[in-house]
Amino acid sequence: MQTVTLGKNGPKVTALGIGTWSWGDQLFWNYGQQYGPNEVKEAFTAAVEAGITFFDTAEVYGLGLSETLLGQFMQESGAKVDIATKFGPLPWRLFGDSVKEALDKSLQRLQLNQVTLYQVHWPFTFLMSQKTLMNALADEVEKGRIVTVGVSNYSAAQMKEAHQLLGERGISLAVNQVQYSLLFRKVETEGIISTAKELGVTILAYSPLAQGLLTGKYTSEIQPDGARKADSRFKAAGLAKIRPVLELLGEIGPKYQKTPAQVALNWLMAQNNVIPIPGAKNASQVRQNAGALGWSLSTEDVSQLEKISRNWL
Ligand SMILES: NC(=O)c1ccc[n+]([C@@H]2O[C@H](COP(=O)([O-])OP(=O)(O)OC[C@H]3O[C@@H](n4cnc5c(N)ncnc54)[C@H](OP(=O)(O)O)[C@@H]3O)[C@@H](O)[C@H]2O)c1
Repeated sequence: MQTVTLGKNGPKVTALGIGTWSWGDQLFWNYGQQYGPNEVKEAFTAAVEAGITFFDTAEVYGLGLSETLLGQFMQESGAKVDIATKFGPLPWRLFGDSVKEALDKSLQRLQLNQVTLYQVHWPFTFLMSQKTLMNALADEVEKGRIVTVGVSNYSAAQMKEAHQLLGERGISLAVNQVQYSLLFRKVETEGIISTAKELGVTILAYSPLAQGLLTGKYTSEIQPDGARKADSRFKAAGLAKIRPVLELLGEIGPKYQKTPAQVALNWLMAQNNVIPIPGAKNASQVRQNAGALGWSLSTEDVSQLEKISRNWL
């Protein structure tokens, strides 16, 4: 199995992870309508069977249900997996203690004593400064409840600051989790990718399939459910804009006997030190996404995809 080291000297995790925002989430993804606990349990099992043991969750996903489900599946299967979860620096969380309290609850739901990666979900600084926050995270690393520290949605400058503050405690920032796909490449123009390389920070690419768009399955007639119904990218004009990218994915795929989604995920892995974490609602989506591992696009195909997606830089 292909692996990637988190940060400079963190643990090795599988080169593709599984995003679990939709596990238990009714608000955005309509959990409980077209899919539910059985489907996501099968998704977990399919991932482990395919050798993928890295799962991304957050305390807010399904208001805790995503973590609870993962905890149950790990217990029932006995599988040893790496969990990445997230702390939300919400306005009423004023003191460093709130990190300890939130982590207590996440570990309880996950039925674990330790998580592989604990990420700050957003770069919000209301009353708790980054210094207080990073120190509280460093305390948890020292206690052994977190193996590595990450951030999410941080700009290049915010990432540097977090890196420096953790460095004062002898800890390296391991991860910045950001939106990154062929249809969202701002992280390249905003210096996030280059700064991450410079600092030795691994990028976790969220929404790597542009929330399903890069699978090519959506058309003006076949529309997604949940909150995406209101997203203009899924309407006729939005779909027309992405047609050239989907056409190229469709041309490249057959050369490798791969689907558009598998090619889109493989392109992200070709960026080096980038781990895509596609969300999956069922076993079949997990199996398809797992097919992005174990092969590589040619340099020529990587560069063609880079050229066709420059509108999204
Ligand atoms: N840090 C953050 O702020 C943040 C923000 C967003 C996401 N995330 C993380 O990143 C993960 C992934 O992002 P995402 O869920 O927004 O978007 P995504 O991975 O781009 O898309 C996921 C959705 O695409 C569809 N899909 C996935 N694989 C498929 C396949 N092989 N064939 C057909 N359809 C497929 C599924 O929905 P349908 O079947 O309904 O189309 C699935 O829920 C999340 O689960 C979460 O862990 C983090």
